[in-house]
Amino acid sequence: MKTRTIEWQNGTVVTIDQAKLPHEKVVLGLKNCEEVAEAIKTMKIRGAPLLGAAAAYALALTAYHSKAKSREELISELEKAAETVRGTRPTAVNLFWAIDRILVKAKNYSGDAKALSAFVLEEAQKIADEDATANRSIGKYGAALISDGDVVLTHCNAGALATVEYGTALGVVRASWEQGKKIRVIATETRPKLQGARLTTYELKKDGIPVTLIADSAVGYLMHKRLIDKVVVGADRIVRDAVINKIGTFAIAVLAKEHGIPFYVAAPKSTFDLKRTSANTVVEERKSEEITHIGSHRIAPEDVDIINPAFDMTPLKYVSAIICESGILYKADFNKLKASLGFK
Ligand code: MRU
Repeated sequence: MKTRTIEWQNGTVVTIDQAKLPHEKVVLGLKNCEEVAEAIKTMKIRGAPLLGAAAAYALALTAYHSKAKSREELISELEKAAETVRGTRPTAVNLFWAIDRILVKAKNYSGDAKALSAFVLEEAQKIADEDATANRSIGKYGAALISDGDVVLTHCNAGALATVEYGTALGVVRASWEQGKKIRVIATETRPKLQGARLTTYELKKDGIPVTLIADSAVGYLMHKRLIDKVVVGADRIVRDAVINKIGTFAIAVLAKEHGIPFYVAAPKSTFDLKRTSANTVVEERKSEEITHIGSHRIAPEDVDIINPAFDMTPLKYVSAIICESGILYKADFNKLKASLGFK
């Protein structure tokens, strides 16, 4: 995918409606913070790094269209916009990281309202650019872990569509493919929102990378039959004791360990939240209709109880390595990283 998943075009945020893919390619032009927030809530925009870029652009829209007369007035508008965006989805830390980064910098900026508005847009552009660069680096480092002929399983969609461009887990796949390695990808369908079936297969087929779609429940069987060499997934938040990613990731990691299959996580540093542990992370609980229905067709009885968490926690003991833009972090490095960031 050569074009960006999200872009700023003259006061509008342009992105693709991922809820409609792969059947319809609808381009959205979002004009204010509320429209971005709505697109996030309805998962037209999704995927942790993309949520970070979208949150940054939501604040840029507020600043760009503001009529504030003073710097203080604009900052209060930005704080209000930040609250709106923070209330959309709770788990991917990139969204909160991008908002905090912009607010802190805006508050330390001494120019007037007009200059501050330009500064906020510049910072949002930087966040998007940095994500694009980080994904290329993740791809380059991660490709060293992938051998010619490997069959790589991935879960959900951690591709170009989940990021500004190129992807994290699929960045590793893309870089390996670009190096001439004849790899194949197994994509899980990823119930209930089917990001694997709808988005991962769509992206990879567009790039001509061989991909096979499986039901989520087929992972154990394929591993037992030695049909999977490696697992590479993305992350929504990496905390001190776990990787938080799409529901089903934990089960895949346990199965991988049981079968001696490496389990890699690919994520930019904006996904790291080492102040937190899994115990104090909010896991998004989504609508019961995602489970009771397939499309608009009800499949479950009317009165059935539903639990529908969107993410789960994979303890670090199941993670062979984390690939980020600075390199590959093996288990021993996890502790070093925490120390380098000031955590014991
Ligand atoms: O609910 P989603 O589609 O936003 O969940 C996305 C994932 O779980 C991805 O694996 C994660 O955000 C990493 S994307 C590079």
